[in-house]
Amino acid sequence: MSLDLVVVGCGGHGREIAQIVAAVNESAARPPWRLAGFVDDDPSESNRKRAEACGAPFLGTLAALGQLPPETHVVIGVGDPRVRQKVAARIDTYRRPAASLVHPDATVGPDLVSAEGLVVFAGGRITTNVTAGRHLHVNQNATLAHDCVVGDYVSLHPLAAVSGDCRLGTAALIGAGAVVLQGLRVGAGATVGAGACVVRDVPARTVVKGVPAR
Ligand SMILES: CC(C)(COP(=O)(O)OP(=O)(O)OC[C@H]1O[C@@H](n2cnc3c(N)ncnc32)[C@H](O)[C@@H]1OP(=O)(O)O)[C@@H](O)C(=O)NCCC(=O)NCCS
Repeated sequence: MSLDLVVVGCGGHGREIAQIVAAVNESAARPPWRLAGFVDDDPSESNRKRAEACGAPFLGTLAALGQLPPETHVVIGVGDPRVRQKVAARIDTYRRPAASLVHPDATVGPDLVSAEGLVVFAGGRITTNVTAGRHLHVNQNATLAHDCVVGDYVSLHPLAAVSGDCRLGTAALIGAGAVVLQGLRVGAGATVGAGACVVRDVPARTVVKGVPAR
């Protein structure tokens, strides 16, 4: 039997995740999920319509989660790690389990140790001996290499490449197309700009950009 799944967020990231749900279902002999709908505290009219065009209703604000059966799963469709962290804190109050979703065109090492809420988009790659916290999002064609340890709410944006043995702190954001060289640390709440090449550790809550990243 399929499990009901609600996407939190009607924006582009949430709707991309709805596509992952569809792809996962299509690739399975028995579809694991039924997309039950979207919730969002303040969706624009256009995003709300686009979400409903994904084939599932708009259910209301996050408070609607409290009315759903307790076995209803959630996935956070919010790309920004810091916002995802805040949304997760709210969802936790409703005690709904978080789904983990791996697109059928992604690869994840069998020895991955991940907390709930992992989302790996098409072309995402997680190799071997990676440990990940809650609600890690690895976007399209991003890679997370061997022996990395990743905190909660981290985002790798499309085409980001994190080399082996790196440490990424809570809610770190690795921008689109950025590279983090092997063995480096990116601190909690830090942002690596799109296209950057990180060649030394990045302190917590700082923004670095460029090649080499500064
Ligand atoms: C680095 C980043 C965080 C800076 O954001 P910001 O502080 O709002 O930056 P601004 O847009 O105000 O730009 C400030 C300056 O940095 C430059 N800049 C912005 N992003 C840059 C980047 N990624 N690399 C190099 N320079 C960049 C701007 O050209 C501007 O330069 P100027 O002062 O000489 O005009 C942001 O641009 C970024 O790259 N975020 C990652 C986004 C991402 O991956 N998006 C994909 C979503 S799927």
